[in-house]
Amino acid sequence: MSHARRKLTAVLYIALGIAAPVGALIAATSALDLQKARHHHYHELGDAFKTVRDQTRAGTPDMTKIKAAAQVINEASVDQGRWFPHGTGPEAGKTRALPEIWTKPADFKAAQKLFSDAAPKLLAAASAGDLHAVKSTYGDLGKACKNCHDTFRGPEDHDH
Ligand code: HEC
Repeated sequence: MSHARRKLTAVLYIALGIAAPVGALIAATSALDLQKARHHHYHELGDAFKTVRDQTRAGTPDMTKIKAAAQVINEASVDQGRWFPHGTGPEAGKTRALPEIWTKPADFKAAQKLFSDAAPKLLAAASAGDLHAVKSTYGDLGKACKNCHDTFRGPEDHDH
């Protein structure tokens, strides 16, 4: 190997040696950000779901609140497909998202579909101001949440 070539090789190794860890660091950071964003989305969804439950149980349910919550729930059911990019599972940090989400994508899609089928029905019932329909569609929705959680969400982390 000529001196010039040896020098070039050394420069290349140094460049690669620096680039690789930096690249990995950026990837790890954004995966954590994505996990955080997902958590935030689910907490919003959980709050909206609770609002519907509390209002339907109230003496005089507030249809405006129910409708606003139904809108949040419906949007979540549309957006959920973007919440699970590859690399945002347990390998990226603490999460209740189980690996089956990525190893059984068809089953996971089916679980998401149960939710996205039920959410517009709740929104339609809320928009129509039909409390009876709100209550029954809310029940179906709850089953869709539970169906997915039973299979694809891990146990609660009691550390936080
Ligand atoms: C298709 C799957 C799926 C559906 C449908 C679904 N969830 Fe979840 N949910 C998850 C997964 C997976 C997590 C864990 C996410 C994480 O930790 O990154 C989660 C987390 C949550 C959390 C956060 C709790 C915590 O501490 O991790 C709440 C609240 C929640 N879901 C509420 C709901 C409600 C309410 C519905 C229905 C209206 C619903 N989810 C529907 C899969 C689903």
